[in-house]
Amino acid sequence: MPDTAAPRPEAAPWWRHASIYQIYIRSFADGNGDGVGDIAGVRSRLPYLRELGVDALWFNPWYVSPMADAGYDVADYRDIDPLFGTLAEAEELIAKAHEHGLRVIVDLVPNHCSDRHPWFPRALAAGPGSPERDRFWFLPGRGAHGELPPNDWQSYFGGPAWTRVTEADGAPGPWYLHMFAPEQPDLNWEHPEVRTEFEDILRFWLDRDVDGFRIDVAHGLAKKPGLPDVGPSPDPSDLPYQDVDAVHDVYRGWRRILDSYPGERAFIGEVWLPEAQQFARYLRPDELHSAFNFDFLCCPWDAEALRKVVDSTVEVHRTVDAPPTWVLSNHDTIRHVTRYGREDTSFDMGDKRLLDPSDPALGRRRARAAALITLALPGGVYVYQGDELGLPEVQDLPDAVLQDPTFVRSGGLDRGRDGCRVPLPWAGHTPSLGFSPGPRAADPWLPQPPAWAALCVTAQDGDPDSFLTLYREALALRRAGLAALPQTLTWTDTGPDTLGFDRPGADFRCLTNFAGLQPLPADAEVLLSSGPLRPGPNGATLLPADTTVWLRTRPAGWGSEC
Ligand code: NOJ
Repeated sequence: MPDTAAPRPEAAPWWRHASIYQIYIRSFADGNGDGVGDIAGVRSRLPYLRELGVDALWFNPWYVSPMADAGYDVADYRDIDPLFGTLAEAEELIAKAHEHGLRVIVDLVPNHCSDRHPWFPRALAAGPGSPERDRFWFLPGRGAHGELPPNDWQSYFGGPAWTRVTEADGAPGPWYLHMFAPEQPDLNWEHPEVRTEFEDILRFWLDRDVDGFRIDVAHGLAKKPGLPDVGPSPDPSDLPYQDVDAVHDVYRGWRRILDSYPGERAFIGEVWLPEAQQFARYLRPDELHSAFNFDFLCCPWDAEALRKVVDSTVEVHRTVDAPPTWVLSNHDTIRHVTRYGREDTSFDMGDKRLLDPSDPALGRRRARAAALITLALPGGVYVYQGDELGLPEVQDLPDAVLQDPTFVRSGGLDRGRDGCRVPLPWAGHTPSLGFSPGPRAADPWLPQPPAWAALCVTAQDGDPDSFLTLYREALALRRAGLAALPQTLTWTDTGPDTLGFDRPGADFRCLTNFAGLQPLPADAEVLLSSGPLRPGPNGATLLPADTTVWLRTRPAGWGSEC
């Protein structure tokens, strides 16, 4: 029976319950045969995405870029990199996606630009103390001759967050800040032109009808005045380059712009912060609409830990009336099929254990079970391209092909993120597994494991036991009913080593078993299962370990009403 006490969110904006598919464009589909994914490739696969059943697409950066960090070093925010296509193609893709019922979210990279963005060479040329340099963080070095960086900040990619400039006359000059690679100078968000420039960039893409923006390093734009040292034992919740109050004013300004456009558009923040209260402040009603839930992504495969993180997520979002979101993998993290097959199933951004052994069958089983958990939870959900195919991390890429700057900057200690960015397998046993068109196409920009032939879309299509079928069925059920339910859940007491929750407003239960065999409730009807069930004594059905089922808890309830 529908629960009339709780508000029914059919009329709720799409971003409160959307399933959003992340397109890492260089690895999704290659349309022109150069071995790199592009807009033409995406366009040709729109029917696949529609059939998959997602609501929206998030594109990683496609702008003009020297690609020092795979496009997160933007040289022109208003144009498309020729590697991916043209602005006209992007405009057409947005329109076509809309025709397919898919919303479009683009990536906005405001913390830093490329060192080839016109502002940066201009700043270098203009010399010390020039207004052109004020758009960045140029500071004199410490030490007798300025030979030491201005402070002790470390780049997220390893090494100091500062690079010293050599002036036009060959003399060593000041240092500039880059929290990522040296090719990604940080912008100075205290500068009014930085603000107006990004407001204009927002309008540029809103005028091209995008439905939202994913904001890169959303917690990092503002820096603590004076750029003080971090010190020897920093408090992770009080770092001078993270979560500095002034950043909220930026988002309030952006929100006014977004809200001035018709339709439902949204900001999604990439907010990595240790404290829930800090995180929630980004989701206040006049700031961002939602943010990625990295606590969930980092959580180990453990009933109690998952329950805790779901609870804290729901609670923290409730305080600001924002929708929770759920994500298992993305282009920066180890693919969860591999993570879940390890002994330690947690993830940590500083994780350097990319080569740790993983049991593939266990990882796949858990990844399927986890998919049904995420797709049943209230709020928004992200599917990283290849999740729906059960792709594992590629752990044996040879050093020579690695392109992620973290590999080089860590002196090879961190193998980087290339292993989760390997081009998708679409079809057959061709050299590129259908990623690129025709036999004469260039090799994919990263080599695909030959074993991925068995994971390609055509191999999974129509196979009732495949990952792809599971995702398609789950997304269809989600669309048909779950997404429109009140955005709440109720835990059910299903015993230790299980995780069970109901969605008020429907006779629906999601039940996961983490160990042993668990009998299913006698009157329950199985709507979907992530793995085979077993017959038990007296006609009972048993749920094996690392398996999730979606149940209709009372006949003639959920499904017929939603
Ligand atoms: C977060 C992005 O997801 C990552 O890929 C990128 O390297 C950094 N931000 C820097 O832009």
